[in-house]
Amino acid sequence: MSTDLQKIIAGRRATEFVQNDMVVGIGSGSTIAHVIDSLGERVAQENLKIVGVATSERTRRHAAQLGIPMYNVDDVDKIDLTIDGADQIADDFSAIKGGGAALLWEKIVAFNSRENIWVVDATKRVSKLNQYLPVEVIPYGSNQLFKRFQADGFHPSWRLDQNGNPVRTDSANFLIDLHLPIIENPRELGDELIRMVGVVEHGLFTDVVNRVVIGEDDHTAKVVS
Ligand code: A5P
Repeated sequence: MSTDLQKIIAGRRATEFVQNDMVVGIGSGSTIAHVIDSLGERVAQENLKIVGVATSERTRRHAAQLGIPMYNVDDVDKIDLTIDGADQIADDFSAIKGGGAALLWEKIVAFNSRENIWVVDATKRVSKLNQYLPVEVIPYGSNQLFKRFQADGFHPSWRLDQNGNPVRTDSANFLIDLHLPIIENPRELGDELIRMVGVVEHGLFTDVVNRVVIGEDDHTAKVVS
């Protein structure tokens, strides 16, 4: 079964956790695009009453187009449930996020949610994290930070757009991707990165998630908590 179908099945299953009157954090990426479509259907067909908080401008536009009332994170009291994607999820439920450049808003929304659900296709489950790690950095001084990452053996690369210009996040920052082998201790690495001046946030998410919904090969969605 294609990973896209796995994403659709898992996305639909995850939206079943959304109930009337919830404030829902809505993640970013291709998997979450299916979640947004599914939420839009429930709003239109079941008259589901929710308000959404977006983790990216793209998500905000998509959800608003489907009739989901969207609020700024600072304009809600608390977020009841956030549904988001991930680039990789390890056995200890740590994850790498930020492949879609939305890691900062995603982490802020997740931090302010009572419950967090991640939705992934089966290819994203790994025993240990081993994919490139996005780091959002302030543009000022970012060349110096890049050199520091090189010196520290983090094998950095700039995230560039198709014209070769640095990608700008929704907060107008740059992204540097670190190419590490296996990340043995995500908490330790996250603590080290966040202490570096100029780092705004990194894509390691630990101690965040309550449930993971995985689209499996056999057309089912497995819920792990
Ligand atoms: C966005 O910055 C990311 O954290 C996404 O949640 C993650 O990249 C998953 O995206 P896909 O669903 O497109 O794989």
